[in-house]
Amino acid sequence: MSTPLRLGIAGLGTVGAGVVKIVQRKAELLTARTGRSVEIVAVSARNRDKDRGVRLKDYAWEDDPVALARRDDVDLFVELMGGSDGPAKAATEAAIAGGKDVVTANKAMLALHGQDLALAAEEAGVALRFEAAVAGGIPVVKALTEGLAGNEVQRVMGVMNGTCNYILTRMEHAGLPYEEVFEEANALGYLEADPTLDVGGIDAGHKLSLLSAIAFGTQVDFGSVELEGIERIEIADIEQARDMGFRIKLLGVAQMTGRGLEQRMAPCLVPADSPLGQLEGGTNMVVLEGDAVGQIVLRGAGAGEGPTASAVMSDVLDIARGIRVSTFGQPASSLEKPVPAKATAPAPFYLRMELQDKPGALAKVATVLGEAGVSIDRMRQYRHQRTTAPVLFVTHKCPREALDRALVAMGATGVVEGHPVAIRIEEV
Ligand code: HSE
Repeated sequence: MSTPLRLGIAGLGTVGAGVVKIVQRKAELLTARTGRSVEIVAVSARNRDKDRGVRLKDYAWEDDPVALARRDDVDLFVELMGGSDGPAKAATEAAIAGGKDVVTANKAMLALHGQDLALAAEEAGVALRFEAAVAGGIPVVKALTEGLAGNEVQRVMGVMNGTCNYILTRMEHAGLPYEEVFEEANALGYLEADPTLDVGGIDAGHKLSLLSAIAFGTQVDFGSVELEGIERIEIADIEQARDMGFRIKLLGVAQMTGRGLEQRMAPCLVPADSPLGQLEGGTNMVVLEGDAVGQIVLRGAGAGEGPTASAVMSDVLDIARGIRVSTFGQPASSLEKPVPAKATAPAPFYLRMELQDKPGALAKVATVLGEAGVSIDRMRQYRHQRTTAPVLFVTHKCPREALDRALVAMGATGVVEGHPVAIRIEEV
């Protein structure tokens, strides 16, 4: 029998406890699959006395994760603490410097420091893997780095924050405003400790930047992801988008263009009958497009104990099997810094406004759109409420600048109340 793979696990929250359970309960299966036993030798967490529903007394305890990462009897350091800097980064760096492989679920750390950590791992001759950092249980990192390795990837899209998708679909089904559903999600414990990570699109933006690096062979560049959260989405838009055959999703899109790498994470409309449009609740979906394979769609739980622990174990078992893939699918030293490009490609837009009940009001708006070069595909006007009526347009594809010109000119017509809402429609 070959030597066991000895794990040191730092972080015993939901995911850490889930990993401990799999290692304890599926020991025979793991050995059968890898040809060696996978054993936990030491653990670390903030509170030693907390009941986590798993037996930990057989393992050495370290209060300091850096000390855990440096232990001679640890072969593989499993980082499940979270946080972009601080103990997670210090312990990861210590493990790499000590010649240990690392598996992490930490998207924030990799989005901000992934290139440096991947370079350090490469120089030390160790593996640094992160399947659990993106889309929970969906094996999308493996799909991109291995399954699609023979493709030029053309586009990566995804709903990668389950909390936002829960909020948007709950607003739709219950007819409730954002603020009320946000409070519900908070009470259910769905939100990160800092909720702006979820609703501000940051968590999903971290994940998109990691997939971009693999897909396009570039250094991770979270700083150039165009980010917009879901905080300003109104129930009226959800309902009226639905009426026009669309649903609103916090969607990430990354593609390499002649101008550079476009990465944006923002609310947009997708056709209600598309796979992305049918996504409900906290589920995640990633759509990958390659020149040889065409489009593939991966769907599954984006968070939670079992799904995230499943993803951690996928990396652990690769290392147990001796499979060592570069962190971002090619040597970190060969990754170029991407040239960031704004997402300026023409797209159709959804436009909602409150129009005054005056003769010629609609004609004025239509003229302004026409003069800006924005062509109307569909239009709907709802019954007047007091002095204004909601009016919706779906435009043909147009550049965002043309639409912005039209929006400015609309303000001067005197027939539009407040600010129109404009949301991009993504062709998926
Ligand atoms: N907060 C994330 C989500 C899960 O709601 O999808 C962890 O990335």
